[in-house]
Amino acid sequence: MKTKKVVVGVTGGIAAYKAAELVRLLVKEGISVKVAMTQNACRFVTPLTFEALSGRRVIYEMFGPEGTVMEHIRWGQDSDLIVIAPATANFIAKMAHGIADDFLSTCVIAATAKILVCPSMNDCMFKNPVVQENLRMLRQREWTVLEPGEGGLACGTEGPGRLPEPAHILEQVRTLLAAHDLAGIKILVSAGPTLEPIDPVRYITNRSSGKMGYALARAAVRRGGEVVLVSGPTALAPPPGVVFFPVRTAEEMRRCVFENRAGCDIVIKAAAVSDYRPKECVGQKVKKGAESISLQLVKNPDILASLGETKAQAPCILVGFAAETEDLLANAQKKLRAKNLDMIVANDVSRNDAGFETDTNLVRLVFRDGRVEDAPMMTKDEVADLVLDRARELREAWLGRSGGH
Ligand code: C5P
Repeated sequence: MKTKKVVVGVTGGIAAYKAAELVRLLVKEGISVKVAMTQNACRFVTPLTFEALSGRRVIYEMFGPEGTVMEHIRWGQDSDLIVIAPATANFIAKMAHGIADDFLSTCVIAATAKILVCPSMNDCMFKNPVVQENLRMLRQREWTVLEPGEGGLACGTEGPGRLPEPAHILEQVRTLLAAHDLAGIKILVSAGPTLEPIDPVRYITNRSSGKMGYALARAAVRRGGEVVLVSGPTALAPPPGVVFFPVRTAEEMRRCVFENRAGCDIVIKAAAVSDYRPKECVGQKVKKGAESISLQLVKNPDILASLGETKAQAPCILVGFAAETEDLLANAQKKLRAKNLDMIVANDVSRNDAGFETDTNLVRLVFRDGRVEDAPMMTKDEVADLVLDRARELREAWLGRSGGH
């Protein structure tokens, strides 16, 4: 995202204040952001707010101070995307009918960039057939129009009309800016912990939050991939656009992964599968009594190793994760060979800024041919893109060797 340029167009609705948070998120992503405002938007939030957040001059007048000549043409042609947030009923109508009577509307009409419209208004306004017709016209032009959120509105009513959450708009921006280099590629991702029952109310699990696997699934969808996500229990919402299979135990995960592996080009096992499970799940809650009790554990199936063993039946690029607390590289290399993988993503979970539960990860990518790539500290979203880049390259190399079969 570091080389991308986005114009945020703020129009005159109460949700203009939420656009400040959107600009902050976009800047945090490394995107170069410029803000244009309508005159009415300036009544809700001052240009200074956006100037401080974007670090750039905000334009809100067509015939403003010196230096704005031709900016109305340049802004929409130099950038990759224009986001109109919030988009009022009036501004939507102007865009639909080609009215260009201020800086932002003129910029939109001259733009070659993609356009994302985030409507926000009173629910009756939103439901008005004329607004719906205007939105339909924008969609027909292949602009992206988000559905507004539902709930309490500033005017005191309830219904559709809320500006979508800035984080949701950010995800749409990422999707629109991403290269669609995984189009036509089917990817299976496993994520999260597994949960192995002891009795009806107790279980064994681990600290996996699922964040890494969900970041992989989200990034793969964004890049145009067809994604199946098999996940143990997590607190995360499944990313929109994935085919989602929630599972609990390692055995359920194994069954689900094997049922869905056919036709997958890339399989990434980011799940932290329990190595052992209680030998039996007791039918009734175990009662407190004895000073000590023991639990007999039996080995769970190693899903990744079975996928590796049977790779000839369903050829794919197989990627594993190795969470280690010692001898990171040697252990990762051993697992790569033992499980017949194409790549393993090794991370040191003894650090508290990487691995389980964190938003960042410090990984080493280990390949079959002995290559090791050390990545710097990255967010899990960035690690996801890196892992997908390498998996895609491995697939292309493999297709090249096998003559496309
Ligand atoms: O051997 P270890 O469990 O450390 O290997 C980690 C990798 O193997 C991860 O990719 C994990 O998803 C996978 N795995 C598996 N089934 C298991 C144990 C681990 O698929 N029972």
